[in-house]
Amino acid sequence: MNNTEEKIEVKEDEKHLLLDHNYDNIQELNHPLPSWWNTIWAISIVFSIGYFVYYQFMGGPTLVEEFQTEYSEIIVKQTEFKRKESLFDDSYYQKIIADGGLEKGKEVYEINCLPCHLKDGVGDTGPNLTDDYWLIAKGTPESIYSVIFNGSEENGMPIWSEVISKDEIYQAVSYVMTFKNTFKKGKKPQGEKIVDK
Ligand code: HEC
Repeated sequence: MNNTEEKIEVKEDEKHLLLDHNYDNIQELNHPLPSWWNTIWAISIVFSIGYFVYYQFMGGPTLVEEFQTEYSEIIVKQTEFKRKESLFDDSYYQKIIADGGLEKGKEVYEINCLPCHLKDGVGDTGPNLTDDYWLIAKGTPESIYSVIFNGSEENGMPIWSEVISKDEIYQAVSYVMTFKNTFKKGKKPQGEKIVDK
């Protein structure tokens, strides 16, 4: 056995931390936990008591209830947003037209509306859009916007606001307006005759 045991020096200012056991010349210092750690620990205990009491005994909401509250707030916001979007804004419509809306509207129409209203709006499953007769719209951009936005699902006209953007609806309106009074052929008139004043 080697007898040159090294004596480990304990610093002067740490002597009070020295524990009084000594195994095989191993000495141990007992450093206290840092005060920031103790503070956080104490705060978390106080917090957990409040948390427990609130959620167990004072009717604090469950996770499901919190989810439902937040979800219904989202639904309210969404409904309000949709309501605002569904209102026709003539100055916005004019801006869309000035921004090449008619050409874009033709594309929107060909992609989405053609199967039911056919080329040039002469009608098939959907009514003829070239005559003076209207089933649910009134021949004005405003009423046509509303019909496209809200659809008429029970009669087979999809709710387009769920499929295409607001701008695309405005563009489609400007294109549908070009069909007006161009009746030559197609599905026979349906609905109420509305002539522009
Ligand atoms: C799946 C078939 C279908 C598609 C696709 C469709 N429509 Fe219709 N559309 C209808 C039907 C059916 C009606 C009549 C609804 C009613 O009587 O309530 C209608 C009504 C309308 C009306 C009102 C006509 C009136 O006489 O009052 C307009 C305007 C219109 N559609 C435009 C469009 C546009 C624009 C698109 C494409 C974005 C489109 N529709 C796509 C079936 C369709």
